[in-house]
Amino acid sequence: TTKITIAIDGYSSTGKSTVAKQIANYLGYVYVDSGAMYRAVTLYAVQNNMISPEHFNKQKLIDALDDIHLFFKFNPKKGFAEMYLNDKNVEKAIRTMAISNLVSKVAATPEVRKKLVQYQRQMGENEGVVMDGRDIGTVVFPEADLKIFMTASAETRARRRYDELKERGDDVSFEEVLKNVQDRDHIDTNRKDSPLIKAEDAVEIDNSNLSLEDQFNTVLNLVKKTI
Ligand code: C5P
Repeated sequence: TTKITIAIDGYSSTGKSTVAKQIANYLGYVYVDSGAMYRAVTLYAVQNNMISPEHFNKQKLIDALDDIHLFFKFNPKKGFAEMYLNDKNVEKAIRTMAISNLVSKVAATPEVRKKLVQYQRQMGENEGVVMDGRDIGTVVFPEADLKIFMTASAETRARRRYDELKERGDDVSFEEVLKNVQDRDHIDTNRKDSPLIKAEDAVEIDNSNLSLEDQFNTVLNLVKKTI
């Protein structure tokens, strides 16, 4: 059987990773969460006082890029790969609001993108990969066999992210989450390097009113048509 490359892009908190993980597990493919990599670089920048809500010392981060070692390690208990930053599991630390509020600034830095895109391409070399992010179908794998662009209303997305954070025990307000989702969409869409945009040949899925099962089946049908 032929293995394909599946690129899933879209706005923040559209549920890309949920459906990407399910599809990867079903097909026996590798799932790569490219957003986790940008989050891990942001965590490094926070830990090394390179960025805060008030300042961003971009050059200091650029100079330190060679000291940032990222890798994914599969956690069989969870059924997906977790993010490691310099040998430390940062899966939880990269999902906080503090990181969400800074990550788009870091991700707009071309030098950061160059490093991460290189790594992402390596991970996709052997095909049989589902990768989600903002520029997977446009920049990382412009030749991907199947490209999906996920959308949903900002309210729907913020509600989902809010419920997720609450479940984890994070003390956040709905307004704060909504603002973060809107701010990230704005920065991600308007940056110069690799802005978030639907690839010409991507299939758009608005999942505002789709159940997880509906989404999974919609994507699986597209996969079957592609293979
Ligand atoms: O996917 P997630 O919401 O975790 O991504 C966090 C942030 O990382 C995005 O808001 C965006 O700024 C950045 N990102 C990116 N390119 C990708 C994946 C994520 O710029 N391929």
